[in-house]
Amino acid sequence: MADDQQYDYDVLVIGAGPGGYVAAIRAAQLGLRTACAEARETLGGTCLNVGCIPSKALLHASEIYEEAKGGHLAKFGIDFAGVALNLDQMHAEKAKAVKELTGGIEFLFKKNKVTWLKGRAAFQDAHSVKVGDQTVTAKNIVIATGSSVTPLPGVEIDQKTVVDSTGALALPKVPEHLVVIGGGVIGLELGSVWRRLGARVTVVEYLDQILPGFDGEVRKESAKLFKKQGFDLRTSTKVTGVTVQGDKASVQVEPAAGGEGETLQADAVLVAIGRKPNVDGLGLDAAGLRLNARGQIDTGHDFRTAVDGIWAIGDVIPGLMLAHKAEDEGVAVAENIAGHTGIVNHDVIPSVVYTMPEIAGVGLTEEAAAAKTAESGGIKVGKFPMMANSRAKTNRDTDGFVKVIADAKTDRVLGVWIVASLAGTMIAEAGIAMEFGATSEDIAYTCHAHPTHAEALKEAAMAVQGKPIHM
Ligand code: FAD
Ligand code: NAI
Repeated sequence: MADDQQYDYDVLVIGAGPGGYVAAIRAAQLGLRTACAEARETLGGTCLNVGCIPSKALLHASEIYEEAKGGHLAKFGIDFAGVALNLDQMHAEKAKAVKELTGGIEFLFKKNKVTWLKGRAAFQDAHSVKVGDQTVTAKNIVIATGSSVTPLPGVEIDQKTVVDSTGALALPKVPEHLVVIGGGVIGLELGSVWRRLGARVTVVEYLDQILPGFDGEVRKESAKLFKKQGFDLRTSTKVTGVTVQGDKASVQVEPAAGGEGETLQADAVLVAIGRKPNVDGLGLDAAGLRLNARGQIDTGHDFRTAVDGIWAIGDVIPGLMLAHKAEDEGVAVAENIAGHTGIVNHDVIPSVVYTMPEIAGVGLTEEAAAAKTAESGGIKVGKFPMMANSRAKTNRDTDGFVKVIADAKTDRVLGVWIVASLAGTMIAEAGIAMEFGATSEDIAYTCHAHPTHAEALKEAAMAVQGKPIHM
């Protein structure tokens, strides 16, 4: 104990995103003297300020707008006349949600007695950190500095005509033609927002399919649906340059394999080719820490780095760059620091793309599951189309399917993939089942409420044994 008192804090967390603020709150709950340093004016990190929350606010608002404007509701007997877009109001409501949520974290810090140190943090040594113009010491330091957009060489982001996700969340008017570079999660979510609000959207993707990391069949089905919605998907295509003249941009593209190029004229260009860990100016050298070849901080399963007393979580370490992964690591690292056993099962982290329909998955893709079990008996796959789900049919949202992948020998569920309007909510059940080591039979014999979209998961599980009822 006396040893601990030589430090200002038991735990100093650097970064107040979903990883950092959760780690700080849990550490304080466990009785540790905790501070959290944040360079932004508000708490909540990328996710609450310029990521998950504002993007979902615009996805929700633009979806309602499209339903009203596009006459989709007429078939339900709801006629709208004179529907108009008030983009300023849409942005204002988004800002309100962000303010309420970031303010909520401030409240939780006060409630849990976490000291908020305002300013950019830089290590002086393994136990001292300069934050703004003060230096503080801590027995344990958690690096939770998150990530920022990967730049595309030769393409300058001016946040007016050429924007990253932060700029794309704040465009003051609907571009006539938006070119998105990168057919990943950000490109498809924010592309959906602006398409629904009236933009023509072209997505330029280097690979031969969108959504890398997702199940192959899901990637194909998603591309089909996005094309049906009006997206121009240019896969196997690379951008060789972007030039801006006034408020217009020319985007030079050519086949990824080489060949004749073409120039796309755009009113806005969104660069969304991935994100990179935030480590610049953090003084990792002073702490004796090195980065791995991908610029990330490596940790063990307990989130300890190579330097005693320094821990790392969230987007700055390897793994999926997702808010809920960062949050769970935040809880686990605090518990480990407090001497408990904090664990995150990285094999069961759900991923959700919040487009319409939503696209979600947990566990292995069919390709990965087949490869992993190739020598032990392979896999069995059950699929059920949303078209055959009574609730989806009633709601007229029948796009998509559920797919359950199970080990052929043990029947243990290895992965679940869902394309459906409520996929993001439905995937939670699959996550729990997998966390408890469920077999497809366990899901198939679990009573699901009728009529719900979730019944499609039960039916897909029944289909693993070749016995779905409604197909
Ligand atoms: P961050 O949230 O990036 O927070 C790190 C914080 O550290 C930042 O506030 C930064 O200012 C601060 N910081 C950095 N360096 C220093 C320093 N030296 N000193 C002090 N402070 C510092 N994920 C989902 O799961 N669901 C979604 O719907 C989703 N939507 C997204 C939409 C967009 C547009 C983007 C860009 C991302 C989205 N993500 C989503 C990803 C999610 O935002 C990140 O995975 C998550 O925020 C990572 O949390 P983190 O705590 O590791 O880092
Ligand atoms: P991403 O990794 O999802 O997609 C980037 C895409 O750009 C890939 O398809 C890649 O092949 C392509 N690409 C790379 N270089 C290219 C080039 N030069 N030209 C054309 N295409 C190129 O990254 P994204 O969309 O930027 O998102 C970053 C992170 O943020 C992701 O890891 C994601 O997990 C997270 N995020 C999560 C969300 C969610 O959970 N709903 C929403 C938004 C972001």
